[in-house]
Amino acid sequence: MISSAVRDRGRTRARSGRRAALVAAVVSTVAAGMVVAFAGTASAGTTLATAAAEKGRYFGAAVAAHKLSDTTYVGILNREFNSVTPENEMKIDATEPQQGQFTFANADRIVNHARANGMAVRGHTLAWHSQQPSWMQNMSGTALRQAMLNHVTQVATYYRGKIHSWDVVNEAFADGNTGARRDSNLQRTGNDWIEAAFRAARAADPGAKLCYNDYNTDGQNAKSNAVYAMVQDFKARGVPIDCVGFQSHFNSASPVPADYQANLQRFANLGVDVQITELDIEGSGTAQANSYATVVKACLAVARCTGITVWGIRDTDSWRASGTPLLFDGNGTKKPAYTATLDALNGGTPVPTTTPPPTTPGPTTPPPTSPPPSGGCAASMTVQTWTGGFVATIRVTAGAAGTNGWTTSVTLPSGATVVNAWNSQRSGDTGTVRFSNVAYNGQLAPGQVTEFGFQATGVPPAGSPSCAAS
Ligand code: XIL
Repeated sequence: MISSAVRDRGRTRARSGRRAALVAAVVSTVAAGMVVAFAGTASAGTTLATAAAEKGRYFGAAVAAHKLSDTTYVGILNREFNSVTPENEMKIDATEPQQGQFTFANADRIVNHARANGMAVRGHTLAWHSQQPSWMQNMSGTALRQAMLNHVTQVATYYRGKIHSWDVVNEAFADGNTGARRDSNLQRTGNDWIEAAFRAARAADPGAKLCYNDYNTDGQNAKSNAVYAMVQDFKARGVPIDCVGFQSHFNSASPVPADYQANLQRFANLGVDVQITELDIEGSGTAQANSYATVVKACLAVARCTGITVWGIRDTDSWRASGTPLLFDGNGTKKPAYTATLDALNGGTPVPTTTPPPTTPGPTTPPPTSPPPSGGCAASMTVQTWTGGFVATIRVTAGAAGTNGWTTSVTLPSGATVVNAWNSQRSGDTGTVRFSNVAYNGQLAPGQVTEFGFQATGVPPAGSPSCAAS
């Protein structure tokens, strides 16, 4: 039914009108819950998008607005992908930096690029404990619940009709074996915050597929079991949920689980689509290529696995660039992982996965409990580690005088290097690294708290960060 357009496009450079028709066909086929298996006769796609489309799937990438002026980047994006996810531009801190003041300029650049080139857009993300603007970080209770619902409503309404799937709620479950919800200001507004967010999103954009998205849920484990129970409950009670996103950030400490396909399938059996939403696999050469092929084959083997998104284009675009986790190298050259992905998309014959044991979460350091500072500010740090790297979240608490600005210093052990930071301005990347406030989180009332984070290679520091207020 869509095959002739798809096949033509695989051989010739598409005009955007045809491309739009293709994506619309794939997306609407998916929307109707009738993923088409192109048996036997399908021709080989020559790009990720066309090869995936032949199998009734989309193939997407996370995109950063500020890279849309990079011709190599855009060249690969337009050639290979037919779906985009804004990497940061639709997050809460980006779209509502001050309460009630919405800014969509950067997200619009991505959406407009996608629409002009016939690509679908995955919206990411409406409600999340992380990358909240400081006004939201400091809210709680009914006021926060209302602010969250207003955010969901405003953003989903603004983009109504332009979003293929929304990650309505991101990362709401705890790592480890508890199967509990993650503690967060949103969770503390009441356990029903997730369903409230989904209902608000449905009301605002009835045409978008509404997804729950998380990491460390890629195989069967306590965390994915808890998400599974939630989805089952939502379906039983009529809470509007259409899809579950599996982030699929893999590395040697957290490889593709042996039961990846089985896990996707059990969620699909609940009556939701499944999507691979943030795929990246650290490594190189054949090992990395084989892991990508495993993931693609798993998706193709699950009828309701409707598409795959990789979390960036070139290795150098990645949020964990040092792990070279993507399909193109820093020059934009196709890696073995690219070829394996394309071949797997074109092969389409499901094979059993042959990968190492299930994901185990890295150890988590609990937050130090320290009394509020009397003057200046105090900083405390929590870290999530994996072999070869970690993400640190730092809480800055203003002292009795409040702050106009703040700087925290973290002394890294030798061998550790910061690769990325958010909600702060960084100077240095090794040794003693300083992080200062950005425009929206410098002014803190006495006792007020803000959070920022960074990602680094190596092992985390043993000591606490220092904090100086201005
Ligand atoms: C990451 C982005 O890639 C970085 O640029 C940013 O600094 C931090 O967030 N899970 C998610 C994504 O859902 O939003 C995260 O993206 C990666 C982990």
